[in-house]
Amino acid sequence: MARAHTYDAIILGAGAAGMMAAAVAGQRGRRVLLADHADAPGKKILISGGGRCNFTNLRAGSANYLSVNPHFARSALARYTPADFIALVDRYGIAWHEKTLGQLFCDGSARQIVAMLLAECDAGGVELSLSRAATAIDHADGQFRVTLGGRTVTAPRLVIATGGPSIPKMGATGFAYDVARRFGLKVVEPRPALVPLTLGGDETLFRELSGVATEVVASAATGRFREAALFTHRGLSGPAILQVSSYWRSGEPVEIDFLPDRASGWLTAEKRARPKATLRSTLGQSLPDRLAEALAERIALPGNLADLPDKALATAEQRLAAWTFHPNGSEGFAKAEVTIGGLSTDALSQKTMEAKAVSGLHFIGEGVDVTGWLGGYNFQWAWASGFACGEAL
Ligand code: FDA
Repeated sequence: MARAHTYDAIILGAGAAGMMAAAVAGQRGRRVLLADHADAPGKKILISGGGRCNFTNLRAGSANYLSVNPHFARSALARYTPADFIALVDRYGIAWHEKTLGQLFCDGSARQIVAMLLAECDAGGVELSLSRAATAIDHADGQFRVTLGGRTVTAPRLVIATGGPSIPKMGATGFAYDVARRFGLKVVEPRPALVPLTLGGDETLFRELSGVATEVVASAATGRFREAALFTHRGLSGPAILQVSSYWRSGEPVEIDFLPDRASGWLTAEKRARPKATLRSTLGQSLPDRLAEALAERIALPGNLADLPDKALATAEQRLAAWTFHPNGSEGFAKAEVTIGGLSTDALSQKTMEAKAVSGLHFIGEGVDVTGWLGGYNFQWAWASGFACGEAL
């Protein structure tokens, strides 16, 4: 029997947040249409976490998110926690493990997470529409009218769950921002985040270290992370760099402590203990060989430690603890795991994710100006904002 084209809610975007909102609303008895322009749901989930989906982080709290209003995410995150998602995953018998720093991954495959969300949508009688783009949205008399590839559907509630523009080749778009602007809602300037940074000028030489990785403390603005950094043929990557890229602004430096476990005065202590060692051989004890060589060359203190004044060693030590890079850019939306910025949280209710100025219009997930750290935080925001919205539909 053909379904009527009228629903209680239309959700655009069958990604992480959209599937969660649809399942919750459907299971509350709402007639939900979940529509995506892609030919399959949850494509970013499938490629996430190297195919194993880092689906949440045990430590997720509002302090792990960037937003113009850092308190906005608190309400939704408190009402749908990592424990809630773990309970769902457990109910489906999906095996998982903690990799590091509270990051939870599937033992098997990210496909299990997509299958679970689809089963939850099914349990709520959600209708799924794929391969059809929304070409027009009208709003009149309390109803949203959406044109989906020749088909017109209506509902009193419309949810924009179309994510952000990172990785456009996977079908990611800035559609959420277009809808926001169409309804006169403010958008915080979107920029790529969790993205490798590029080096040029004098620092181009570091690209020769491509493939070298080491644990560092990296800082940019107020972001400070202890994780691995990786030199690449274009500049800097690895978890520590991806993390600080979310805080980095064009023209600003990134500081790296290459020896975070060394206490102040360690080089002069080395000089006393091993006077015949060189700076290069001393650095080689703690750092990968090629990196030790490159850093020693740039510090340019030749000869044995015994021949070097304590003051010069103290200066070298400071430089190694706060090596300043000046990235000339990032690898952009093509390589960014997420987009920072998006629909201004000022425009939304933090309880229902509904636009304050447009009754019935909700925004969830990455399209909103809430961006998590690397490590499962972004999916937790997608689940939590999707849940908050699904409860309000
Ligand atoms: P999401 O992008 O999931 O879904 C949006 C949906 O809307 C898509 O299905 C898209 O096709 C659809 N759409 C877009 N425009 C549309 C339009 N105009 N009309 C209709 N549909 C439209 N996070 C994390 O926590 N752990 C991890 O392991 C990873 N790993 C990871 C790896 C890689 C390579 C990337 C790129 C990203 C991650 N992330 C991650 C981030 C995570 O994938 C991201 O934060 C969430 O998928 C965001 O969920 P949303 O539902 O908001 O958007």
